[in-house]
Amino acid sequence: MAETPQEETSQPERVSTEIPGLDDMLHGGFFTETVNVVSGNSGTGKTIFGSQFLYEGAKKGEKGMLIITSEESKSLVREMKTSFGWDLKEMEQQGYISFVDITDPSLRLQKSVEIAPSELIKSFKKLVESKIEKEKPERVFVDSIEALFLAIESNYKLRTMVDDVFSVFRSHGVTSVVTVGTLFELNDVVEYGADSVIKLERFKTGNTLQRSIYVMKMRGSKTINEIRVLNISDNGMGVLAQSPYL
Ligand SMILES: Nc1ncnc2c1ncn2[C@@H]1O[C@H](COP(=O)(O)OP(=O)(O)OP(=O)(O)O)[C@@H](O)[C@H]1O
Ligand SMILES: [Mg+2]
Repeated sequence: MAETPQEETSQPERVSTEIPGLDDMLHGGFFTETVNVVSGNSGTGKTIFGSQFLYEGAKKGEKGMLIITSEESKSLVREMKTSFGWDLKEMEQQGYISFVDITDPSLRLQKSVEIAPSELIKSFKKLVESKIEKEKPERVFVDSIEALFLAIESNYKLRTMVDDVFSVFRSHGVTSVVTVGTLFELNDVVEYGADSVIKLERFKTGNTLQRSIYVMKMRGSKTINEIRVLNISDNGMGVLAQSPYL
């Protein structure tokens, strides 16, 4: 049956990923108020993905929040400046991006090895809730989620906690991008809790390295089920409408 205009308008709103070529693969972008996981090995482009989502959104006037969860992700601001000239600090000064660094000693959240992991997650949820209520961002980027969850030994507990943390984002009306690495296969459990999963890969073809991207899932939406080339240049990240296997 042909789609009527009414059916069209009852669809949830979409938020652009800001990655050229990717919105088409998702049939129009992420749904608003969803948690979107970007998953891949080290160096596949997860941090760039989330930063571009936030930075380009802020340039359009959509307020963003960057949540940094570990010492390693602290260097993100410097890296995005040197790689692409994106000045996230300047965006902060202009009021378009706010930062939440959970390793900041003044938040007393940082001693993750000394407190029970479930306590850390409880405090994280409370902190994020209050920051979102204060700053009212439309877009949130968490880089990366594994620092919160690595110490949890039971997969059952982990699954429950992932759902718990993700529900904080959904219930506050923000559209979020959450990165996860593949260490100890933690990504498997995190991906189950997500509304969409984008997979980034890097592999050898002949004597060169190739990047690829595909949509592993997107609840409630059609997607283009192709593996495509992911390109990173001085202008940021983009998807090419071609297969990396040609
Ligand atoms: N201007 C640029 N042009 C081309 N490639 C770039 C540029 N800037 C960065 N890169 C590439 O992007 C890669 C880093 O991507 P990113 O930091 O997003 O990966 P990641 O998946 O977050 O890695 P990790 O798991 O280690 O945090 C670099 O290793 C580099 O190869
Ligand atoms: Mg990273």
